[in-house]
Amino acid sequence: MSLNEAKRIAAYKAVDEWIKPHTKVVGIGSGSTVVFAVDRLAERVKTEGLQVVCIPTSFQARQLIVENNLTLGDLDRFPHIDCAIDGADEVDSDKVLIKGGGGCLLQEKIVASCAEKFVIIADYTKNSQKLGEQYKKGIPIEVVPLGYVPIKAKIEKVFGGEAKLRMAVSKAGPCVTDNGNFILDWHFDSSKTFDWNKINSELLQIAGVVETGLFVGMATKAYFGMSDGSVKEQN
Ligand code: A5P
Repeated sequence: MSLNEAKRIAAYKAVDEWIKPHTKVVGIGSGSTVVFAVDRLAERVKTEGLQVVCIPTSFQARQLIVENNLTLGDLDRFPHIDCAIDGADEVDSDKVLIKGGGGCLLQEKIVASCAEKFVIIADYTKNSQKLGEQYKKGIPIEVVPLGYVPIKAKIEKVFGGEAKLRMAVSKAGPCVTDNGNFILDWHFDSSKTFDWNKINSELLQIAGVVETGLFVGMATKAYFGMSDGSVKEQN
């Protein structure tokens, strides 16, 4: 089974299990797996007449909502989300997530924090016991551009490892998020054991750190599309 098919089966199952006729507001995550969730949601809106408002977590998610003729909303008018569905870069055995490989972690975390249920969809390569086992690009940390040099130095001094400024792919210069910030990808020693809740809180105390891609205690459930065509569920 291809990775795309694994993403699709996880996404379809999550949408079918969590989006009910009474669901009113849905958070739409970012990345390649969420594309399949939006496909399925749009199909169900057409066939079942569901009346849902979709709250995007990025420019990409907004485009997906609009292109699929779904109703676009925002947190000003819909601050309470029934269910947010999003991908992840890695999910450990405690459902601690690394997110932000696509640079959308800030809006993703805000939307997830407004959601009653936060459901993760992913292919089998994202499923791990311990963070860093699968995802090798570090933990994304969104920072205010003018402070990135001292913030990088503080992260490396306090937590070890290396915090690398993420560079843009098709332009000379740094990757700029939807919020006009930079991203430091913190490469940590994955042979060590970390208290992720503590690390997350400590990172957030550094002036100029806007948000981290560590999602601790937020996910309600994760669905992984497996290579044998089954969907593994993690509660
Ligand atoms: C976006 O910044 C990320 O948090 C994505 O949700 C995450 O990278 C998952 O993306 P894929 O579904 O493309 O793997």
